Amino acid sequence: MEDKLRSLQTEAIEKIEKASDLKELNEIRVAYLGKKGPVTEVLKGMGKLSAEERPKMGALGNEVRGAIQEVLESKQEILEKEAVLKKLEKETIDVTLPGRPVRTGNKHPLTKIVEEIEDLFIGMGYTIAEGPEVEKDYYNFEALNLPKGHPARDMQDSFYITEELLLRTHTSPVQARTMNKAEGKGPIKIICPGKVYRRDNDDATHSHQFMQIEGLVIDENIRMSDLKGTLQIFAKKMFGEEREIRLRPSFFPFTEPSVEMDISCKICGGKGCNVCKGTGWIEILGAGMVHPNVLEMAGFDSKKYTGFAFGMGPERIAMLKYGIDDIRHFYTNDVRFVTQFGVEE
Ligand code: PHE
Repeated sequence: MEDKLRSLQTEAIEKIEKASDLKELNEIRVAYLGKKGPVTEVLKGMGKLSAEERPKMGALGNEVRGAIQEVLESKQEILEKEAVLKKLEKETIDVTLPGRPVRTGNKHPLTKIVEEIEDLFIGMGYTIAEGPEVEKDYYNFEALNLPKGHPARDMQDSFYITEELLLRTHTSPVQARTMNKAEGKGPIKIICPGKVYRRDNDDATHSHQFMQIEGLVIDENIRMSDLKGTLQIFAKKMFGEEREIRLRPSFFPFTEPSVEMDISCKICGGKGCNVCKGTGWIEILGAGMVHPNVLEMAGFDSKKYTGFAFGMGPERIAMLKYGIDDIRHFYTNDVRFVTQFGVEE
């Protein structure tokens, strides 16, 4: 029995040493040390031994098992290390290979200008309000002091969907909606960016769809000087500190008095050139003090509250700022055009 155990030990150790991978090693472990393995098998014969010999053989059995186990473990360690090394070798990365260039995109110039204008007003405490592009005639016209049949409706040729629904012709309906929601309580300080639609023939300066950004401030004691100061800050931040503004009297049904704002021409410095059509000034936006009728229709007490509003076209602002000569460039998305405006950070 002793011999048998010893020879099993030698046999197992030989096999272990020859094992070339972890799978093979595991098979040897199961074969020799498992419950059905030869060592267990031999030890089952212990019952036939004398009481004296039994503990000796028991101890030997344990010794043989222990010896096999020990060799197994150290071999396992070696094989595991080898496997890691092999894997590392197989998966080596050549870090000297040149990388593939990643092309970064940039924001559309119109998006950039809208965000720039939004940030400027957010910095002055405004929040952004939005409204539907398919608008009720009521909000687009009536609530803005443009009753049905009012001749000023012709200023904005419209796409009607039904008698009462149209594609909004300006972002001013958002001002009417916001005022309605406020239920006669100020203050309101919003800007409303969005798409608008007019029945225009597309050319270098007209488009049937374009963008507007409208601003509205309502509170007690809001005066024309507040409007002028706000517009001045906007113009200087947008076009440069050296630019002057000028307000010309104008007409909008929803504001009284109404003005149009011009900025001094950067190209000729005010002397007159073909960009400013010889006047030294460039028209930027329309504005005015909110008409009392508009305030009252939206449920505001026009004796207590006053306000101002302004509306501008970001395409026009971008065209002036970047020297773009055709509004259609914004919508045709020629990559040579849209990638000219800087890579985004
Ligand atoms: N909504 C006007 C337009 O589209 C612009 C404007 C807005 C004028 C607010 C005055 C006040 O022409």
